[in-house]
Amino acid sequence: MALWGGRFSQAADQRFKHFNDSLRFDYRLAEQDIIGSIAWSKALVTVDVLSYDEQKKLEIALTELLDSVRQDPQQILQSDAEDIHSWVEQKLIEKVGDLGKKLHTGRSRNDQSTTDLKLWCKAEIAHLISAINQLRKRLVLTAEQHQDAVMPGYTHLQRAQPVTFAHWCLAYYEMLTRDESRLQDTLKRLDVSPLGCGALAGTAYPMDRDLLANWLGFSTATNNSLDAVSDRDHVLELLNNASIGMVHLSRFAEDLIIFNSGEANFVELSDRVTSGSSLMPQKKNPDALELIRGKVGRVVGALTGAMVTFKGLPLAYNKDLQEDKEHLFDALDTWQVCLDMASLVLEDIKINYQNCQDAAKQGYSNATELADYLVAKGIPFRQAHHIVGEAVVAAIAKQKALEELTLEELKVFSDVIENDVYPILSLESCLAKRSAKGGVSPIQVKFAIDNAKQQLSL
Ligand code: ARG
Repeated sequence: MALWGGRFSQAADQRFKHFNDSLRFDYRLAEQDIIGSIAWSKALVTVDVLSYDEQKKLEIALTELLDSVRQDPQQILQSDAEDIHSWVEQKLIEKVGDLGKKLHTGRSRNDQSTTDLKLWCKAEIAHLISAINQLRKRLVLTAEQHQDAVMPGYTHLQRAQPVTFAHWCLAYYEMLTRDESRLQDTLKRLDVSPLGCGALAGTAYPMDRDLLANWLGFSTATNNSLDAVSDRDHVLELLNNASIGMVHLSRFAEDLIIFNSGEANFVELSDRVTSGSSLMPQKKNPDALELIRGKVGRVVGALTGAMVTFKGLPLAYNKDLQEDKEHLFDALDTWQVCLDMASLVLEDIKINYQNCQDAAKQGYSNATELADYLVAKGIPFRQAHHIVGEAVVAAIAKQKALEELTLEELKVFSDVIENDVYPILSLESCLAKRSAKGGVSPIQVKFAIDNAKQQLSL
């Protein structure tokens, strides 16, 4: 039976009922709905709607329901209740009879559903932060292992300057650190309870809403009831956080897919995260990474979908807002599983040091060093840049690296060049010179690793 039958003389069309019902997805809010209901029953004691004994009976029944839901959440899906709020109330009435019918006094599903979702978001943020930190740890440990793995760094996907695999890992560590802090920021703003705002104008029972908020673990109660029942900023923020996080993961995936290609052959992915081709026996495909890269689409889609759904809604609650949950659940589930998969991929990745180093030596990625060398000998940088450009063209024609040109060949471009140029052109020197904060020098990378380990208590 629906919660609102009194005004209606005809039953809902089955097709409409299916269209309107949200139980098939909001059943995930069962725990939060029950916990919110227990707190609400306590608030009703403070305004003399329930006696202390009645409240105790309700609390015992709700706690039993909570245990049973924790053991078997799928049981909820057997019901034809409209939504999770109706389901919990129905079950409560089955357990305690008419007393259960008192619980909804002064409350609306409008403040209830947004309270439930906010509680769910708080728990979910904790799970996401833990998955992010798992991956941050994995990135730092991988960086620590591969500080000596020199490989090409790219701009425009053209070899630019040598870097190390460790420095590459730490770049993603930084992105993940920002993702974590964005979640912490969101948490601060969403930590405000809408319960007690009623349908839109506030509850008619003069309760202490801040106290009620505290019982539920919120730091305070919302200021304006019209806003509170229709605010979904936290949903948008989380979808935005997830989108940015997924953009990071998809760049991570794309880099590794390139590194894993036959052309680069810098890394080898484990059999545990790759799959074969049904036709081509030699294939080992980076499916885990491709799916991470691909799934950013649905997460950004969810953000766009929610934005468009919420735009232009008149105050206060409208049923459109029920659309918030499927977007959010899908996007956050996707983000979570992609974080887990990214950690798994790194767990036993192999780095082909020799191939990485050979590639770093190609592509004239030490050309900047030669320009800096000329600068040190008094040639203005712009002119030095031009001279090195000519030297690179000549070296390409001779199919040699810069360091393979003889001193005589180099002197053609500038007579300030001497034998002391050769150590400058080595990979070790290219790396070591970039020793200002954030640079790729082994000392800076070690420093960054130590800092990260300290932050993560590793
Ligand atoms: N299931 C709804 C939601 O998720 C809550 C119900 C509010 N319904 C209503 N008619 N006021 O938003």
